[in-house]
Amino acid sequence: MSITNPFLDPSRQAELYGHASRLAGRSNALLRAKTAGRPVPDAIVRLVRAHHERPDRLGLVLDVGCGRGTSSMALAEQLRPRHVIGLDAASALIEQARRRARHMAGLHLSFLRGDFHQVPLPASSCDLAVAAFCLYHSTHPATVIAELDRVLLPEGLAVLVTKDLDSYREMDELVAAAGLDLGATGHESLYVSAHSGNLADLAAPSLDVLHAEDEEHRFTFDGHDHVAEYLATNPKYHLPPGLYGNPGALATALRDVLPDQQLTTRSVVTYVVARSKGGRS
Ligand SMILES: C[S@@+](CC[C@H](N)C(=O)[O-])C[C@H]1O[C@@H](n2cnc3c(N)ncnc32)[C@H](O)[C@@H]1O
Repeated sequence: MSITNPFLDPSRQAELYGHASRLAGRSNALLRAKTAGRPVPDAIVRLVRAHHERPDRLGLVLDVGCGRGTSSMALAEQLRPRHVIGLDAASALIEQARRRARHMAGLHLSFLRGDFHQVPLPASSCDLAVAAFCLYHSTHPATVIAELDRVLLPEGLAVLVTKDLDSYREMDELVAAAGLDLGATGHESLYVSAHSGNLADLAAPSLDVLHAEDEEHRFTFDGHDHVAEYLATNPKYHLPPGLYGNPGALATALRDVLPDQQLTTRSVVTYVVARSKGGRS
């Protein structure tokens, strides 16, 4: 059976994460547009402090799907555990994470290439396992969560983070209104496999869910140039040739049919904090 959702299609992962510049461009455009919502790494740290029994004496911390290492670095800097391991399937992102972390003297932080379905760590070795914005790349996210449970110590915590299915719907409406992909509002959400509505249920078979919270993040993009920086990286649209991956051309195509204007959009970020079922209640 062929997989049509690009976030779940193994043959499209190199296009998504084969070069660090795509993820950096996409994240920077989103960050510049942000008007409401806490920085996600800080929110993860706050949840660990609130729910871990000894947040100031953490041993090994695992950050799966760590990408360019932003959360891994924040965990190392703010929680000062014995060691943080960032794990990611994409070598380009692991290299970039290592480069970014190089100047962080005194922090015990390393990055490993690997698959979060088979974490290369022994059972019961971690105090904390984080999976932020990555479980929706697995067709079997519950298997990844079971793997996090395997590597967690009995009192260890997992913090899982994802977005809602409807995230950035206003961008879909813009693409449809511009006539660039008339079906833009009808494509399956990129987050279908692990989203705000099913994250706690995915965790429940392996872990005891202690806490779940949602926070709405809001974004206002300055105009077509700014929104095109993000839109051009979105693999779900069926754009005319030459626009995917090309923010300049996409901005021009938007300007040809729609007056340049700000775009406000939103996404709900969901956090689930859970503990190994072997842990104390
Ligand atoms: C959107 S990025 C999230 C990066 C980071 N966690 C953050 O919050 O910014 C998703 C990451 O998941 C990684 N990923 C996808 N499938 C994976 C797998 N099977 N094993 C490990 N990492 C994977 C991708 O390479 C990518 O770096």
